[in-house]
Amino acid sequence: MRPVLTVSFLIAALAWWRGEVAKNCILIKSDFPTGYYAEGAYEDTCQTVKAEGMKFCEDATFWEFKDSTTNDVLQRNVLLSCDPGRQEWNTVMGPLLDPEPHGSLWLYNPASSASTAERITLEGYPAKHDFHPLGIEIYPSFNGNASNLFVVNHARARTTIEQFTLSPTSPLKASYVRTITSPYFISPNSIALTSPTSFYVTNDHLFTRRLPFPFAPVLPTAETMLGLPLSWVGHVSLDDASGELEHTFSKLGVAFANGVSISPDGKVVAVAATGANAIGFYKQNEATKTLEHTHNVPVPFSPDNIAFTEDGDLVVAGHPHFLSLVKVAKKKSTTTPSWVVSISRREIEAEAAPFTIKDDLKAPVPVSSKVSSVASHQVRTLFQSDGAGFGSSTSGLVDSLTGKLFVTGLYEKGLLVCNPGPQ
Ligand SMILES: *[C@@H]1O[C@H](CO)[C@@H](O)[C@H](O)[C@H]1NC(C)=O
Repeated sequence: MRPVLTVSFLIAALAWWRGEVAKNCILIKSDFPTGYYAEGAYEDTCQTVKAEGMKFCEDATFWEFKDSTTNDVLQRNVLLSCDPGRQEWNTVMGPLLDPEPHGSLWLYNPASSASTAERITLEGYPAKHDFHPLGIEIYPSFNGNASNLFVVNHARARTTIEQFTLSPTSPLKASYVRTITSPYFISPNSIALTSPTSFYVTNDHLFTRRLPFPFAPVLPTAETMLGLPLSWVGHVSLDDASGELEHTFSKLGVAFANGVSISPDGKVVAVAATGANAIGFYKQNEATKTLEHTHNVPVPFSPDNIAFTEDGDLVVAGHPHFLSLVKVAKKKSTTTPSWVVSISRREIEAEAAPFTIKDDLKAPVPVSSKVSSVASHQVRTLFQSDGAGFGSSTSGLVDSLTGKLFVTGLYEKGLLVCNPGPQ
């Protein structure tokens, strides 16, 4: 193990040398409170919805019930991908010890009076097929029809994407359709649907932890810590009858491409570059599904999943102290901090630096204390925690209709729900 330790040390030293942003987000732990919520007093307005077995949830996405004539949202449910065995099986961060216990999907209806989440069973899922859900996305249901659901699955030999249908008439039963594989699926992480049968998919690493020793862990660790731009975004179109798929590359050369989301008007695609501590904004070519880079917005943490709101703001959750996240992944610690921000386009581009984000100055650790601002977008803190309130934030969702904020934690129990209220 000694050579591996030496290499890890060298990599950490190089990460330090990489600069201010990496230092701020990987190595230095900020002084966060138990919980801070921008839209209300944390103690009174935020609570964690818990359910037996619902823990270590990576992704959360809205499942909308819509009226097909008016396109109005009638109900906005939260769908979660959770994996209690993550500390035994995590192909992104390690370890790879035991792939046997299955993860599961959960459904939470924020409008229901019974404020708990319910487990979704998988109907027709092949026996002996692993289930380690990561990125999930579901098409809206129109006038009560079934929705196509896609789930990234960190199975033992390789990562696949599982297709299901889920219907509002039996919302706790996902019907298995097929397993999608491709030689281009090296390390799929997150999905953004472009139609009921097509999607963008990020591949977070070129070098994965499944490589033989000593290539793993050395190469994937180097790729992560050095922020090497070796990962990419692909686009997959599926022929729903035959199951045949067409894969194209949408954007190459991203540093640890993680979350991906499409703006409500379809013009912009955002990609979290975890290795660069930034969000890349791209112009979507709707015909070719290629992405043209337009803006880069630094964030004060290692960004994980991202989601546009109906209003066009981007909610970004991430890890403000990557080293303690690694410790939790290895069971050497139990908490790691959370930070969730919202990124919005400035109406008038600021003309000169510094672009002070006045609105964020009331946050315990303001964004501007960690990273420099950009002229095109402003970044505002929605939630912060030292990990005692709610740790390891990996996904954040904001419902524009109710203002509610939902946060999942990679190594946390339950789902954080915050309701706007008095400060
Ligand atoms: C449900 O209806 C929408 C809108 O007409 C359609 O795009 C979608 O494919 C339908 N879903 C399924 C699973 O057939």
